[in-house]
Amino acid sequence: MSRLVVVGQGYVGLPMALRAAERGFDVVGLDTNAKTVAALNGGRSHIDDVTDAEIAQALDRGYRASVDPTCIADADAVVVCVPTPLSEDGGPDLRPVRRAAEVIGEHVTAGTLVVLESTTYPGTTEEVFAPLVTARSGLIVGKEVYIAFSPERIDPGNDTYGVANTPKVVGGLTPACTRAAQAFYARFIDTVIEAKGAREAEMAKLIENTFRHVNIALVNEMVRFCHELDIDLWDAIDCAATKPFGYMPFRPGPGVGGHCIPVDPSYLSHRVKGQLGYAFRMVELAEEINTAAPLYVATRAWEELNHRRTAVNGARVLLLGITYKADISDRRETPAVPLARKLTQWGAIVSYHDPYVKEWDIDTSEGRRTLQSVPAAYEAAAAADLTILLQAHSSYDLERLEASGARVLDTRGVLLPSDTVTRL
Ligand SMILES: NC(=O)c1ccc[n+]([C@@H]2O[C@H](COP(=O)([O-])OP(=O)(O)OC[C@H]3O[C@@H](n4cnc5c(N)ncnc54)[C@H](O)[C@@H]3O)[C@@H](O)[C@H]2O)c1
Repeated sequence: MSRLVVVGQGYVGLPMALRAAERGFDVVGLDTNAKTVAALNGGRSHIDDVTDAEIAQALDRGYRASVDPTCIADADAVVVCVPTPLSEDGGPDLRPVRRAAEVIGEHVTAGTLVVLESTTYPGTTEEVFAPLVTARSGLIVGKEVYIAFSPERIDPGNDTYGVANTPKVVGGLTPACTRAAQAFYARFIDTVIEAKGAREAEMAKLIENTFRHVNIALVNEMVRFCHELDIDLWDAIDCAATKPFGYMPFRPGPGVGGHCIPVDPSYLSHRVKGQLGYAFRMVELAEEINTAAPLYVATRAWEELNHRRTAVNGARVLLLGITYKADISDRRETPAVPLARKLTQWGAIVSYHDPYVKEWDIDTSEGRRTLQSVPAAYEAAAAADLTILLQAHSSYDLERLEASGARVLDTRGVLLPSDTVTRL
């Protein structure tokens, strides 16, 4: 087995395709976005974690991107990494997964392994994905076509764990499917774990993300009353984290962002509600708290300005770091958006600095406006009525920020509290 098609060449699919190419697979990166495909074939990366040099190397090894699904007919394995967003009513939007399954069904040939990696609710592979593949291909699962789920665990910006050394869970629709998936991934991933089946593999991913969502909500709720009670929650968390067993630290912040934490647990709660009729209360509560977190930051900004006898209306507020995570450019679901919206609704003059984002569209009461990242972060901070540190990118010189005399609301707990610096 050496010919691989990776469907979806985004944050997940591209690193996967390049790693497989490095390990000798003949890889085609299939994507419906012609611009992405042209850029990749021209040696240009659109993902933070992948450099142009890595694309060039992969192209030399035979990797190519394509919009033409006929390549599936020659593949020994097809891995699907398409988006799984939320629909307008907050439920799962499986249209990209369905489209990918239909296209695979049209072209797949006997003996192929087909793996879904997109995060989704338990049951998707068996009930939604596989029927579309088999209806079109007529192939029998476990005998002629091997279908499995394997959750993607990529952590953008993580220099320690990448595709190769992050253990991979696989769960097939039949034991033969699981074995085929295990054998495939073992060729380019150090550790592969067999789940009981596809549902358990799907559930494993949702446990991981729900765990993070709920624990972030826990501290985001605690930070509110700790502020009222004059308790430094960051210090308390650092102390708790000295316990060498039974505790894992999570820290408060301006809210959750990205493609996973705010989205995936909703897939699970939607499934529980839809199939069983009752609520997954922990997730609903976590959603409520984490969604309100940026608005709480706005309230704290108002409080900070009020202490200095400055009205929010007309105040110059600088946001430092607007991506959802440090050291990457991804702005999907970033809490900076609802925060900026609230501040501008209150009349604040919002500006921002982010080394990863040159331009940013924000909603104001007069409609959408495009902002440019201010050129000099520390000078702009010193000149603002309030600076809100939203994302502590490692390129930020925190000592310089403190020394600038800027009045800062630190939502990450990375600056020392002082006359000019307040922690959330
Ligand atoms: N980004 C992460 O950090 C991360 C981590 C773990 C899991 N995941 C999961 O992985 C999946 C993919 O996420 P991503 O961040 O790579 O998304 P992405 O938006 O970065 O990339 C998806 C790519 O798929 C392409 N695409 C969409 N529909 C397609 C189709 N029918 N056929 C072919 N290509 C298609 C898009 O053009 C895009 O290039 C999601 O389910 C996500 O929840 C993401």
